[in-house]
Amino acid sequence: MVESLARRILGAAGYRRIETPAFEATELFARGVGVATDIVQKEMYTFDDGSGRSLTLRPEGTAPVCRAYLEHGMHKLPQPVKLWYLSSFFRYEAPQAGRYRQFWQVGAEAIGTAEPAADAELIVLLAALLDALGVRECRLRLSSLGTPETRAEYRDELQGYLRGHEDELSAEVRARIDANPLRAFDSTHPGTRAVMAGAPVLLDRLAPDDAEHFAQVCALLNDAGLHYELDPTLVRGLDYYTRTVFEFASDALGAQSGVGGGGRYDRLIEQLDGPPTPACGWAVGIERMLLAAGELPTAPSPVDLFVALAPGGDHRVAFGLATNARRAGLAAQLELAGRSLKGQLRHADRIGARYVAIVTDPMTLKDMESGEQQQTMPDAIIPTILRGSRLT
Ligand code: HAM
Repeated sequence: MVESLARRILGAAGYRRIETPAFEATELFARGVGVATDIVQKEMYTFDDGSGRSLTLRPEGTAPVCRAYLEHGMHKLPQPVKLWYLSSFFRYEAPQAGRYRQFWQVGAEAIGTAEPAADAELIVLLAALLDALGVRECRLRLSSLGTPETRAEYRDELQGYLRGHEDELSAEVRARIDANPLRAFDSTHPGTRAVMAGAPVLLDRLAPDDAEHFAQVCALLNDAGLHYELDPTLVRGLDYYTRTVFEFASDALGAQSGVGGGGRYDRLIEQLDGPPTPACGWAVGIERMLLAAGELPTAPSPVDLFVALAPGGDHRVAFGLATNARRAGLAAQLELAGRSLKGQLRHADRIGARYVAIVTDPMTLKDMESGEQQQTMPDAIIPTILRGSRLT
């Protein structure tokens, strides 16, 4: 269901499916995701492949997609190249509800475009996917990180501001002024909160063209009627982001409220030795979407025919009948557990089979709806079911 919705929603917007290998050279993630991130420092499953090469089970999909884009010459295709994936990923984290060491993501990447419309399009598409799946209580947080240079200057400014108010901060925030000053925005300590209410925010420090880019993204989202909260404290756990960043969170989830997120990564392809190539994208956790969506209606798959074997019945005839029924487009199942005939009929009833063919001589066809059964020529069974005829 997730896959067919993703294919429909992303396919209709021109995104094509890509599948990359489950593991990549470790260096790709170190360079792509960032050596200082938790993902690279603590969460990667890394191993030696026996010939001295260090490989890593993919912790995320953006760096592998960019690697594939370069390796397969996609930068020579008409731009942007729009790709989506549905794959499993691996992070060594403490497992809990909504957080697993192997998990699944749907992701989408638009590579080779700096247009604000690409950012807005991607966000609208993710909102459509969440909506189609019935993900409840979803909020969209949006911000812009500008360029790494702007961020570095802002970090210095914030550190200076925090040092100027050191006495009012919690001990924990004080200890992290050098390592992670942005964390101060998350503090619940009253003194720290009062200080942070007057702290400079990155969104106010963006260079003019970054600010203009962000204003256009916001305007397009407004036009699309999508509600969002501007959250200048939004931080993502990957280092490659520039300009737009966003995250969908659901209050229907517990501690792991992030359902999906992403942003622009205009320098990543260059960092991987490609030409300057702006890009943006997102990934959404499938387990988290399903948790936040609650019960999904699942229709049992229909069974048109169950082929039962009576004592002494010819199992090759039974096999042939099930095969031919499937070739004719019917959903057909064959007894494979050696049950008694009574047990087989009970099982056929349990799985909701419409008809049961009992392979014996002569062959019998049972209509499970009316309970009628009649002896039939083997060749007549499939046409009878295809006509949906009632046995009388
Ligand atoms: P991310 O925020 O690290 O971004 O992961 C995206 C989503 O994957 C999260 O919001 C969450 O739903 C799910 N997820 C992450 N870790 C786990 C886990 N341990 N267990 C269950 N679900 C998890 C990325 O991965 C970026 N590659 C997104 C992106 C694409 N940015 C640009 N393009």
